Amino acid sequence: MREVQLRPLTLGDLATIYLWSQDEVFCRANGWSIGLSWQQLRTWWMALLQTSPDVMLRSGVAVQDQLVGFVELSSFDWQEKTAVFGIAIGARSLWGQGIGFQAGQLMLQHGFDHLQLKAIFAEVHAPNLRSLALMRKLGFEETGRLPLHEVYQGTLSDVVCFVLESSCWNSRI
Ligand SMILES: CC(C)(COP(=O)(O)OP(=O)(O)OC[C@H]1O[C@@H](n2cnc3c(N)ncnc32)[C@H](O)[C@@H]1OP(=O)(O)O)[C@@H](O)C(=O)NCCC(=O)NCCS
Repeated sequence: MREVQLRPLTLGDLATIYLWSQDEVFCRANGWSIGLSWQQLRTWWMALLQTSPDVMLRSGVAVQDQLVGFVELSSFDWQEKTAVFGIAIGARSLWGQGIGFQAGQLMLQHGFDHLQLKAIFAEVHAPNLRSLALMRKLGFEETGRLPLHEVYQGTLSDVVCFVLESSCWNSRI
């Protein structure tokens, strides 16, 4: 099993992000526009790096010091102590090797243990079987479906809604 670490993202990661942005399969799976220019990507990346972690906490996923993806908590509700989970492994050749699972666990642990969140939500397009499997493996429970809610890979698709409560998380470890 490869050792996965979370680390802050930097402007120096832009070249890696640019490589991912040139992979159509990854872009379609992750909802990114295809064929963004270096300048467009740089503008987006700079804005993202300047976003307060109270609004969106996005960490790099690293394997042997190489950036391979990112994982995030966003849409924080600090009164209700909730957030929304998201993840992408940009290095597609590494899909299916347990990296998403390990990175997801690290971010969820941070959310529950350090940020003291009570619940973390996630939404997945129904045809995204790999992501559905990942959410279930991480302990998320399905709460419902939004029928034909968003376009995924060119087709109007259901969105599956998940929640992971802190009590469930704590009882797993
Ligand atoms: C979704 C994503 C983050 C998963 O990362 P990953 O590193 O490939 O995930 P893992 O290897 O930890 O696999 C998690 C589970 O997915 C399942 N899985 C793997 N390949 C699969 C496939 N081809 N079809 C269905 N399920 C699959 C397995 O059940 C696996 O659990 P297991 O280890 O018990 O077999 C990654 O594929 C990705 O970045 N996809 C594009 C972006 C995206 O879809 N993000 C999520 C948006 S909600």
